[in-house]
Amino acid sequence: HAPDGKQNGDLHRDYNDDRNAQGQDTLYTTSNGVPMPHPYEVQRVGENGPLLLQDFHLVDLLSHFDRERIPERVVHAKGGGAHGFYRTTDPLDDLCMADIFQAGKECPISVRFSTVGGESGSHDCARDPRGFSVKFRTDEGNWDVVANNTPVFFLRDPAKFPLFIHTQKRDPATHLTHADDSTMFWDYLSQNPESVHQVMILMGDRGIPENWRKMHGYYGHTTKLVNKKGEWVYAQIHFKSKQGTGFITQEDSNNYSPDAHQKDLYNAIKNGDFPGWDVKVQTMTPKEAEDLWENQKINVFDLTHVWPQGQFPLRKVGEFFLNENVKNYFAEIEQIAFNPAHNPPGIEPSADPVLQSRLFSYPDTHRHRIGVNYQQLPVNAPRTPYRIGNFQRDGSMAFYNQGSRPAYLSSIQPTQFRERTLDLDRTHGHFAGKAVTFLSEIREEDFNAPRALWEKVFDEGARERLVKNISGHMSTCTKEEIIKRQITIFRHVSEDFASRLEKATGVKGYESIKSMSFNGTHNGFATEDKN
Ligand code: HEM
Repeated sequence: HAPDGKQNGDLHRDYNDDRNAQGQDTLYTTSNGVPMPHPYEVQRVGENGPLLLQDFHLVDLLSHFDRERIPERVVHAKGGGAHGFYRTTDPLDDLCMADIFQAGKECPISVRFSTVGGESGSHDCARDPRGFSVKFRTDEGNWDVVANNTPVFFLRDPAKFPLFIHTQKRDPATHLTHADDSTMFWDYLSQNPESVHQVMILMGDRGIPENWRKMHGYYGHTTKLVNKKGEWVYAQIHFKSKQGTGFITQEDSNNYSPDAHQKDLYNAIKNGDFPGWDVKVQTMTPKEAEDLWENQKINVFDLTHVWPQGQFPLRKVGEFFLNENVKNYFAEIEQIAFNPAHNPPGIEPSADPVLQSRLFSYPDTHRHRIGVNYQQLPVNAPRTPYRIGNFQRDGSMAFYNQGSRPAYLSSIQPTQFRERTLDLDRTHGHFAGKAVTFLSEIREEDFNAPRALWEKVFDEGARERLVKNISGHMSTCTKEEIIKRQITIFRHVSEDFASRLEKATGVKGYESIKSMSFNGTHNGFATEDKN
């Protein structure tokens, strides 16, 4: 034992102590803790001579600087967030066994908001969907809801995601984004018309939210809730902003600074104006899901569609508030790692193919972006009342390597297990049906919700702004054929919509979507005609 009674190996630095570091209580040292008189001190041979390799202080400083950047997120690279707490106000225990949904339960949370396509330094007011991720640190492990501010998405076939995202990024040759050249942006969309609902939301008022506080969040994917008896329902999760919603017009967006949304959130929390959201769910029995497909051709595993709220009303479960700004952006936001596969008992993924792919993609990218032991970082580590034990060991930066606990199932120091009370067979086998290879064949139903947006949801002002935003964006599209195709897709939403766009762009679309072929999507209308 060391003289102060501590064991020699008992050397862990406290994370919270580090997080609360202030200038005045630190002493300047090298990374191995040796005090140094000044950061600008270098060892040089004479007044004009070369530097000495033995100067560890300078080598230490430069080599660490050389490695400061980790890869930015391949999507959602620009963002910000804060910490807060969640509480259950209206228990959901009849439908879900998750401990966090029982009466009186609450837990700490962290939230990250983001744009999708832009790079880490890009503008907060870009026209883009917004990411809205919440990490609930429940007593049964972390539950992550990795959501967006729009209820639907551009695609229903996960294989399209990387290709679609590439059209939102820089062109391989010109290195330009769609802000300067929108050709590939519209080329992709005009070949994949199942995107039309999300495109109208993106190009409409909701494409540039006023700030992060005034946005709703939607998981979009169907998820499953299981109760203690093993009964389950499908569910959609919504976060409803207590601040309401607001938007910025395309013209106004030029008046905001690149970090306007980050600034807004930081200052609101600093000033004690803590933003809050209600957590609500829509639920559906397996039978109702079959009926919805049978009667309305809405597939619950297709996130280009929404669940009609008249039929499946929202039920409030709880609420969360953001009341703590981060102290260190890199440690608490850049390194936070959300994953749709993080679900406590009682919350399960559905068979939605996009969700199923995401279950793989997020932990895979985290291992690349942050490292194999990313779950051990304080912002990602679960805060369970029990001590976590498993058989994952070593790897780069293994700070919590589970001490001397045996790294196998030992009879000498047995590990404790909690029994699973439920059987796992909750697939919806006969509904899943036979294997198919193309998921995106377009159908009449794909146009119902976009048509309702144009005809019922948008007022005249919103319609005019939509047409202006689209035609403005298309003005940098270099191929007329692409504009023609996209207008034809919009024609199937509404003749009025298409003819206004034709006027605004000066390009005449085709007469009907039925004669078109798509490189990424089978044209269900053409098949119908053939039959
Ligand atoms: C971030 C993949 C669809 C919401 C990411 C990241 C990847 C990814 C690789 C970066 C994660 C990181 O580096 O930490 C995919 C794939 C998809 C898909 C492969 C489809 C096949 C979606 C959908 C939504 C969504 C449908 C919303 C409903 C988000 C959000 C983030 C994100 C909010 C940012 C997370 C954060 O704040 O750290 N996605 N994504 N993604 N994705 Fe997806």
